[in-house]
Amino acid sequence: MIKRIKGTNDIIENAYIWEWVENKFRNVAEHFGFSEIRTPIFEATELFDRGVGKETDIVQKEMYTFEDKGGRSVTLRPEGTAPVMRAFVEYNLASKGLPQKFFYIGPMFRYERPQAGRLRQFHQYGIELIGSSLPIADVYTILVAIESLKAIGLENFKLKINSTGCEKCRPSYKEALKEYYKPLLDELCSDCKTRYNRNILRLLDCKRDAEYAKSAPNILDYLCDDCKVHFEELKSLLDKLNVEYEVDPSIVRGLDYYTRTVFEIKYPLLGAQDAIIGGGRYDNLVEELGGTSTPSVGFAAGMERIILALKTEEKIPSFQDVDLYIVAVGDDQRADVLKIAKELSKVLRVDVDLMGRKVKSQFKNASKGNARYVLVVGEDEVRSGLYTLKRMSDGTQMRLPIDEVVKTVKDS
Ligand code: HAM
Repeated sequence: MIKRIKGTNDIIENAYIWEWVENKFRNVAEHFGFSEIRTPIFEATELFDRGVGKETDIVQKEMYTFEDKGGRSVTLRPEGTAPVMRAFVEYNLASKGLPQKFFYIGPMFRYERPQAGRLRQFHQYGIELIGSSLPIADVYTILVAIESLKAIGLENFKLKINSTGCEKCRPSYKEALKEYYKPLLDELCSDCKTRYNRNILRLLDCKRDAEYAKSAPNILDYLCDDCKVHFEELKSLLDKLNVEYEVDPSIVRGLDYYTRTVFEIKYPLLGAQDAIIGGGRYDNLVEELGGTSTPSVGFAAGMERIILALKTEEKIPSFQDVDLYIVAVGDDQRADVLKIAKELSKVLRVDVDLMGRKVKSQFKNASKGNARYVLVVGEDEVRSGLYTLKRMSDGTQMRLPIDEVVKTVKDS
């Protein structure tokens, strides 16, 4: 038997939940003025080397990179921001005016160790707000994130914010971190030992070495005046909007493009993989990709984790597969059943027997498929135009013309 690849999932019985969540997210993003962007699943490897950063775990260890038949190095996208910004530069979208606001939903690929809530093919819903350097853009982005979660009825999530400074103030902070961690090097986990030289900020969000991070220098004490003002304005806007948040200096994010504001939304009940949304400001990415400076901010939400969170809150909407199962009493009525199904499928979810079943087993099949109603189509019904409609929840039967059938099923 050929099985699915480790770290990937088939979405079979839950596809309707995905569709429901995606529609809600799409709706929120559109109502906040974002339009959909669909970029390719694979890109030139260089995009992520430059965009996400050569020293990040993603680029060092997690990319699905291969050479295509033309000898080009291509990579399955591990995230959505670099591709969106590549498109922004490639099509000179700045000429359409700023800000530009995009959202996306789709699969991403990272070669990570699979566990609950961590996959190798996972899905993100994300937004990118391109072109504003102001804290109000950060807050707008955070609002879209929170309203998206509220739209699916999720509670119990926590917003954490931090600033990672800018190219002016970050170097002195990195120096301070190096000083702090130097005497501890022998005790750090193997990942942190390599990160010490490559990506010192990531020592702060290591789960194994979290104790050391607690007493590490705090980035907020190292911010330059401009970054400080930005962070203060961000907090004051969040306060004015009554958005609850916690300032958490351990939020540093795993991608190199961030500047100033970073944030995560955690869902603590999920355990180890509890970040359901991650995002922040990335003011230098467009320049990095060859465009002119275009400060931007965005986030991405992990769909698998969000659906797990919904399940813990038992917030999945109940879903009936079929509104009306149309039963043919005899083979002579099969064509009539199809005719009725064709018409009613315009307004209801219908089902019919396609296996040549007898009446009794058509009824059984209807209950198995959770049909709310069954419509019986026999010789008499076809002649009189009055059909027997059975409500499956309590067995109530009525005889109605077709338009009344539709009304009854729709209104209940
Ligand atoms: P990220 O933090 O790498 O950020 O991913 C965002 C979210 O995707 C995470 O919080 C998590 O919910 C989900 N996620 C990440 N990796 C996995 C995985 N292996 N399995 C399941 N879910 C996962 C980014 O990707 C940035 N592009 C976000 C962004 C957009 N920043 C600015 N704009």
